[in-house]
Amino acid sequence: MDIIIAANWKMHKTALEAVEFCRAIRSQEADFAGVEVLVCPPFTALSAVKAALEGSTIKLGAQNMHWEAQGAQTGEISASMLLEFGVEYVIIGHSERRHLMGEDDIQVRRKIEAALQNDLKPILCVGETETEREQGNTEKVITNQLSGALQTQDSQKLGSLVVAYEPVWAIGTGKAASAEDADAAAKLIRSYLRDKLGAKIADGLRVQYGGSVKAENIGSFIGLPSVQGALVGGASLEVDSFSALIQAARKAVAD
Ligand code: 13P
Repeated sequence: MDIIIAANWKMHKTALEAVEFCRAIRSQEADFAGVEVLVCPPFTALSAVKAALEGSTIKLGAQNMHWEAQGAQTGEISASMLLEFGVEYVIIGHSERRHLMGEDDIQVRRKIEAALQNDLKPILCVGETETEREQGNTEKVITNQLSGALQTQDSQKLGSLVVAYEPVWAIGTGKAASAEDADAAAKLIRSYLRDKLGAKIADGLRVQYGGSVKAENIGSFIGLPSVQGALVGGASLEVDSFSALIQAARKAVAD
C-alpha cells in the first residue's frame, strides 16, 4: 500500500499560481514512486489544475463539499461539481472548517456519506484542541469525531476512506506533535476502524498525520507503522519544500 501525501493549500494560490506549481512539480514526479501524491487547491483553481496535471500521476483533491446534490446553497459546491474537474479525494471536517465555520459532526457525517455515494474518496480530519489535550480528553474527542462521522455509514463503502489525525494545536504553529503522540492517536483511530469495519477493511485504510509537517520531521511520522501518510499545509505551498518532504517520506519508508 502506497503512503499518501496530500497538499492542502487552504486559501492560497490563484489558478495561475497553482498551474505554475503543477508545471514545476511535474518535472520531479518521476521520483515519487511509492507515494500517492495529491494537491487540494481552492475550488477556483480546480479546472486549471486538472488541465495542468493531465497525464500526471499527481492526483486532485478538494478541500470541502456540500452534501446536497444541488439546490439553494449559496456559496457551496456539490460532489458532481467536483467530479466534473477530475477530483478524486475530498478533505472533510478539517479543523479550520469545524472551528472557523462551525461545522459539526452531523454535517461532517452527511458530507462523508455524499462523498462515498459519489465515489469521491473522503479524507476525514479529526484532532483535539490544546485545551482538550490539557484536560486529558484527547481520546474522547477523537473517538467522538470518528463515531460522529462514521457510525451510521455503510461499512462496505468505507474502503476508500483516509483518516487524518491533525491536532489543532499543531496546525500552522511550527509545533508538530511528538512521534509518540501521533502514534497513540493513529493507533486509537485504527482500533476504532477495526471495531467498526472489521480488520479486513480497516487494515487496508490509511491514517495520515497532519500539523506542521515538513521535510525535517516527516520521517518521524512515516517511520511509525501506525502512520501511512501526511496532510500538509504550509510546507506544501512551495515546490521545493513539498518535493523535499516527499523524498524524506520515501526515505523513511525505505529505511
Ligand atoms: P500546516 O502543515 O501548515 O501545519 O497545516 C496542516 C493542515 O492543516 C493540513 O490540513
